[in-house]
Amino acid sequence: MDTAEIRRRFVAHFEAAGHTAVPSASLLVPDPTLLFVNAGMVPFKPYFLGQETPPYPRATSVQKCIRTPDIEDVGKTTRHGTFFEMCGNFSFGDYFKQGAIELAWELVTKPVADGGFGLEESRLHPSVLAGDDEALALWCKVTGLPESRIVKLGPKENYWSMGVPGPGGPCSEILYDRGPAYGPDADWAAMGTDMDPALEDRYLEIWNLVFMQDELSEVRSKSDFDISGSLPKKNIDTGMGLERVAFLLQGRENMYEIDVMFPVIQRAEELTGKRYGADAGDDVRMRVVADHVRSSMMLIGDGVTPGNEGRGYVLRRLLRRAVRSMRLLGYADPALPELMPVSRDRMGETYTDLVTDWERIARVAYNEEQVFRQTLATGTTIFDTAAAQVRDSGGSSLSGSQAFTLHDTYGFPIDLTLEMASEKGLEVDEAGFRGLMAEQRERAKADARAKRGKHADTGVYRGLLDASGPTEWLAYDTLRTESTVLAVLREGAAVDALGAGEVGELVLDRTPFYAESGGQAADAGTMAWDGGAVEVLDVQRPVRGLVVHQVRVTDGELRAGTPLVAQVDPQWRLGARQAHSGTHVVHAALREVLGPSALQSGSYNRPGYLRLDYGWTTALSPEQLHAVEEVSNAALREDLPVSSQYMTLEEAKEWGAIALFGETYDNSAVRVVEIGGPWSRELCGGTHVDHASQVGTVVLTSESSVGSGSRRVEALVGLEGYAYLAKERDLVGQLTSMLKVQPDQLPTRVADVVERLRTTEKELERLRLQQLLGSAADLVAGAEDVAGVSFVGTVASGAAGNDVRTLALDVRGRLPGDRPGVAAVIGEAKGRPSLVVAVNEAGQAAGVSASDLVRAGSEQLGGKGGGKADVAQGGGTDPTKADDAIAAIRRALAQR
Ligand code: SER
Repeated sequence: MDTAEIRRRFVAHFEAAGHTAVPSASLLVPDPTLLFVNAGMVPFKPYFLGQETPPYPRATSVQKCIRTPDIEDVGKTTRHGTFFEMCGNFSFGDYFKQGAIELAWELVTKPVADGGFGLEESRLHPSVLAGDDEALALWCKVTGLPESRIVKLGPKENYWSMGVPGPGGPCSEILYDRGPAYGPDADWAAMGTDMDPALEDRYLEIWNLVFMQDELSEVRSKSDFDISGSLPKKNIDTGMGLERVAFLLQGRENMYEIDVMFPVIQRAEELTGKRYGADAGDDVRMRVVADHVRSSMMLIGDGVTPGNEGRGYVLRRLLRRAVRSMRLLGYADPALPELMPVSRDRMGETYTDLVTDWERIARVAYNEEQVFRQTLATGTTIFDTAAAQVRDSGGSSLSGSQAFTLHDTYGFPIDLTLEMASEKGLEVDEAGFRGLMAEQRERAKADARAKRGKHADTGVYRGLLDASGPTEWLAYDTLRTESTVLAVLREGAAVDALGAGEVGELVLDRTPFYAESGGQAADAGTMAWDGGAVEVLDVQRPVRGLVVHQVRVTDGELRAGTPLVAQVDPQWRLGARQAHSGTHVVHAALREVLGPSALQSGSYNRPGYLRLDYGWTTALSPEQLHAVEEVSNAALREDLPVSSQYMTLEEAKEWGAIALFGETYDNSAVRVVEIGGPWSRELCGGTHVDHASQVGTVVLTSESSVGSGSRRVEALVGLEGYAYLAKERDLVGQLTSMLKVQPDQLPTRVADVVERLRTTEKELERLRLQQLLGSAADLVAGAEDVAGVSFVGTVASGAAGNDVRTLALDVRGRLPGDRPGVAAVIGEAKGRPSLVVAVNEAGQAAGVSASDLVRAGSEQLGGKGGGKADVAQGGGTDPTKADDAIAAIRRALAQR
């Protein structure tokens, strides 16, 4: 049964049982506790927690998921994929344990001919959380199995949570016995309540039914967590591993061999000339390739670009591991252009965006491979240097820190370092390397903990939302409301009042203030009541539905319950509308100039200013930059109408509205903002101008890179745009009057001036040198005799760098060749003295060493020096000691 059919049967089974089929959410839900969606329940989390009312009592989905903690295990076990699809059914306070067990059992055991998966009952072993007698009894009742067939496991296996504070509950797994070829017979009664790892390959978990009933405040490990209370309702969350069921039903050995993954392995076989199944090490590499190529394609599809932290780092690691595995398999040419299209052809049947968005996805992936190839090239040089150092110092092992630097700075995986070291007959201090890696992981964990702490704060806001309901939000309708203060907070805790000068947070019953979202900055403004006023510093929506204003009391005392007038600064808001509409205009213009695959990945705008990040790998040429600016301003001049309307997500997509990566939208009512009809259609909750000319002007001020595969343009709009141009005009004005030319002659004139300056400087240099060398004859004429040596010691204050050396050599050459001669010259550059001593052949024969003399002189100058017996060079920090240094050299010569 192919994967598509398994997916179809799953959804059909639950739809027939009254579930609403919900499409997979993006891998990037904006949940601060998660890097990626890692379970089917993630998009439904607010429903389980009771933060939002679910629009349906039952739902089913096949959700894209990414889990990367086990990345090193990929390909080694049969069942760990970094990307996988989770088939799930969900009940929000509707059916509970019995319903979940019945529905799952029916689907897995129903004959294939009747639409089920037809798994033999004798091979199935349900499990329960030890002590969950209700579930135990229900399994016996529903399946007719004896109690001895139901496995009782501890919380490590059979209590499920997200690994972070949130919903959780006891669970039941359905294990499938693959037979004695895959491991020993289980003796469940003797095993205890921890699953024996030796049994995991044979007794494969295919489905997890979570009886979601608890709220967790702290999760330290799978079996160590704090339950802070019950969820408002008893829910069901299940997850069936699509790939696992697929490999069982397709009679394959593991998830990498199923219909949607194996073609990549076959392509890798063709490219490398290796055969899958011939060598265990190569097999692992091929599975890594199949898994990572697919995972990275799915991540790029959802808008991730490679980078050095967070999601971007995960993607980078996956791509690089795939490329690297191909190298280890003996394929050194660019591999992704050969492999990723194969994965696209299989996955694109379900995820059609992969096909329509292919140009962008391929560009991001192939570019990263290019960058990595470069890394390998430079890293290899660094590696060779490190290896040579080890050799030269008589060692035989690269240090842990060398391996760590190669890994951390040059992206060299440790297995690569190990392999290259062994090729050179060297070892690597792997323990040292692992130690440094562990330290780095600790730092990362501490970061994550800090982030989690931030999230826990939302409890206070949730309490407020529960107590008084959502804020009536009037930002689209008015700039001014009469409102009542519902709550006053200081440092995250409710207080009775804020005094003059204090900063705190306010919740109102209604507000005209726009809370920062969708890239648009929060509104500025004031609130005033009889006896006082506050200035609004920031506005956020920490939980959906609740608007929180950060304020400073400018006058009087603010108490909960006070009626007041909330007033948005109208000039601020006008600026914000200009900037936000300007962002849409620039986005549309970019897509017009570069093509539709230039998609926004992030943006920020506030009055007068906007920036927009988009997926693109190369810099805009000056011509493209001009074109984007021109298209933008033409749209303003045409005064395109701006409008917004609500529709379903489905309709919005049909309309071609652009939904942004990582945003969640309410499927039933999304807001689409249009500028000039289809020219610009985006899902957006921001505030906008009424027609394009109100933006005033768009002036692009910069274009830059923000990490691999992502570029940024910045622009000024409205009066700020005008002011920027006016300032440039003034600068041009100053230059034209200074240089006495017309503005368009400026570049030629400036180039001319610069060129003349350069020629003059060269000429000056030549003259200076001439003068300096001209003094050589005089200097030689004044040579002293120091203990039988002709000695010239001079301070040439105008001489710098090479001049000092040239003069010293010139003087030495002019000294009589038949007797020992020494020239010592001290010059000065940028406040630092430099010294050169040159000794002629007769001098060297008489045992005079330039390097000894330089050392004596440099000591006086506060520095060091060295060189050979004939010429040596030194310097120091104190040019006022130049005469002392010459004297010291003379002394050294005399005492020789
Ligand atoms: N949330 C559970 C899991 O991830 C069941 O879907 O296993």
